[in-house]
Amino acid sequence: MNTTSFFNELPQQVMPVITVPNDDAVKPMIDAIVAGGCKVLEITLRTPAGLKAISYAREAYPECAVGAGSVLNPDHYKAAVDAGAQFLISPGATDSLYAAHKANPVPWLPGVANASDLMKAVENGLDQVKFFPAMTLGGLPAIKNYAGVFPHVSFCPTGGVKPEAASEWLAEKMIFAVGGSWFTPADLVNAGDWKALEAHIAKFWASFK
Ligand code: 3PG
Repeated sequence: MNTTSFFNELPQQVMPVITVPNDDAVKPMIDAIVAGGCKVLEITLRTPAGLKAISYAREAYPECAVGAGSVLNPDHYKAAVDAGAQFLISPGATDSLYAAHKANPVPWLPGVANASDLMKAVENGLDQVKFFPAMTLGGLPAIKNYAGVFPHVSFCPTGGVKPEAASEWLAEKMIFAVGGSWFTPADLVNAGDWKALEAHIAKFWASFK
């Protein structure tokens, strides 16, 4: 099976990794992120509000691609799909997640950190993966090394990717997207300053070439 077309057709190649702190933040935070210009949302399951945020974003913003991040196990996988997630992203991958994907092949990026992880993804029919934590693992030079060995695989690096480096990474043909939590700084989110959050995100998109 192949998820290539879904991830190659994302409306944006830079995606925010979003963690919604609580239920009260679901609507104003998602509204601010979309108003700031994001069309792809990776909403993590790190908080219980994550599933509610996925459902809300799907309903309120049908023009956006809404996915779940931090999908750690088959229960997460099912809950995210049930909440309406159109794609799923994991920081790594387990046999049980590969089995969940085989049983219900929603577009999914398993996380890889080394060549063995990549071999396992390929063995399971996947040729698009998350590379995490990207900077700790060697950044762009590491991905270029893997591209030589796995020329048909493409990557979504996250973890320490700087906003100002996004364009440079995306210029590489083996990188189909990059992700980061820089879109949603903790100080603005914790203060519930949604206007400032929207402005912060709009500033990134204004500078993004
Ligand atoms: C992720 O889940 O992909 C990372 O937490 C995002 O990494 P960052 O916080 O370094 O952007």
